[in-house]
Amino acid sequence: MDIKIRKASPLQIKTSCMVICACEKDFSNPLFKELDQKLGGLLRKAQRNGEFSAKADEQILFQPAGHLPAERVLLVGLGPAEQTNTEKIRRAAGQAIQLIAEKKFGQMAFALPPGTGGSDYAAQVQAATEGLLLASYRYDLFLGGKAKDSRKLPKAVTLVIEAEHDKKCCETAVEKAQKLCRAVVLTRDLVNAPGNIKSPDFLAEQARAAANESSLKCKVLGQKELAKEGCGALLGVAQGSVREPRLIILEHHGGRKDEAPVVLVGKGVTFDSGGISLKSADKMDEMKMDMGGGAAVIGTMLAASLLELPVNLVGIIPAAENMPSGTAYRPGDILTSLSGQTIEVLNTDAEGRLILADALTYAKRYQPKLVIDMATLTGACIIALGHQATAVLGNDQNLVQSLLDAGEKSGERLWQLPLWDEYDQLIKSSVADVKNTGGRPAGTITAAAFLKKFANDFRWAHLDIAGTAWRDMDQPYIPKGGTGVGVRLLIEFLHNLPAAE
Ligand code: BES
Ligand code: MN
Ligand code: ZN
Repeated sequence: MDIKIRKASPLQIKTSCMVICACEKDFSNPLFKELDQKLGGLLRKAQRNGEFSAKADEQILFQPAGHLPAERVLLVGLGPAEQTNTEKIRRAAGQAIQLIAEKKFGQMAFALPPGTGGSDYAAQVQAATEGLLLASYRYDLFLGGKAKDSRKLPKAVTLVIEAEHDKKCCETAVEKAQKLCRAVVLTRDLVNAPGNIKSPDFLAEQARAAANESSLKCKVLGQKELAKEGCGALLGVAQGSVREPRLIILEHHGGRKDEAPVVLVGKGVTFDSGGISLKSADKMDEMKMDMGGGAAVIGTMLAASLLELPVNLVGIIPAAENMPSGTAYRPGDILTSLSGQTIEVLNTDAEGRLILADALTYAKRYQPKLVIDMATLTGACIIALGHQATAVLGNDQNLVQSLLDAGEKSGERLWQLPLWDEYDQLIKSSVADVKNTGGRPAGTITAAAFLKKFANDFRWAHLDIAGTAWRDMDQPYIPKGGTGVGVRLLIEFLHNLPAAE
């Protein structure tokens, strides 16, 4: 979709649908007064009878019947002006394009709330673009002609800006959003891909393709190399599947040559059946999303490269399929991880932490500035936070705080859980250095406490995206399925990297 910036009054734009954002109690603004006039008082009336008061997520459609160049005017509410943020704009833009596509209006122009923005105007333009692009996404690769998206998306959208703002800055913001959303879409596509086509090798090939599309470097370790390295935990998880595991490594060199990199690690379980500790059939299909962390790392690396971020980055994705079979690892097995620490497997369904253990150890050889891992790690995280927040835990409060801040800014919100040493008792084993489950209490925390044992040598944070990587209902700019969570969050974090240092 093409997105053009135009300096004009929204009331001068000729289009089949002019969308204007409004804040609550803001109808005294000259723009809305003029609009009300042209509508013969309909806006006032709608306001008075409670049809539209610009609450967040509220919409109202007018047909100005020839009194304006636009065929229709769609007002979208942002809620109280003092609470307006980029997330509200993302949602408003997403909901607007959704309606326009469903009703097949064909054209669209979009205006931010009048008289707002100030120095943050470019951020608002970026958010609007994100909302438009991310709401347009559908996963329809396997849908036959007729079943394909029946909506009609506008081919181009005009973003209408007020006279006092800088057009160039806005155009740069649009370009940024386009690159970022390209990466989010890749992440969603990978998460939505079904398990039958999504093997660890498939994931590696997709990472290679992302490297070819950008200036990333890609290296992939196969089964033999993993055995030679001694990645016993990753190999243990993978041994029940006929599909071989991979360790995928992407590199982005945007910083000084001697600068320590940020390492991103993402869980890449291409399908999690639970293994011998088999999951129940209910919703097992959704476990194709268990590589959401890995997909987000691939997406973040692609975005960093396209945006030419001035940092050194390494992405590491341990990829495996967790299956039950005659060759599968069993409850009671003891694995020797790459770090040398031994792990008692009490439940083969707690596989994510095992493959992450080896990937975190592997990260050490890059002498990282800091390490962030992302994983659909625990069902307990959904119990604790639902689908509204990613859990964050770590061994460095400065780093955690920077991630929390990036969460607020990007709209991909985080909530911190404690990682006190007391939790370590729950994963003590009598036959190995550590066991892979800590029972039902504090499931998200004991999983992180397990990872902590492999993240001793660097500043580290863990993001549990079990509740946020997949949605089973449409959101304003997130259609159901893979959400692409993590990409916008981490790019926002990397933009402000000095704050974490
Ligand atoms: N991939 C799952 C966690 C998960 C569950 C993600 C639901 C998204 C939605 C993970 O591998 C898992 O099975 N975790 C177990 C751990 C338990 C056996 C200690 C869980 O959460 O039940
Ligand atoms: Mn599992
Ligand atoms: Zn899993």
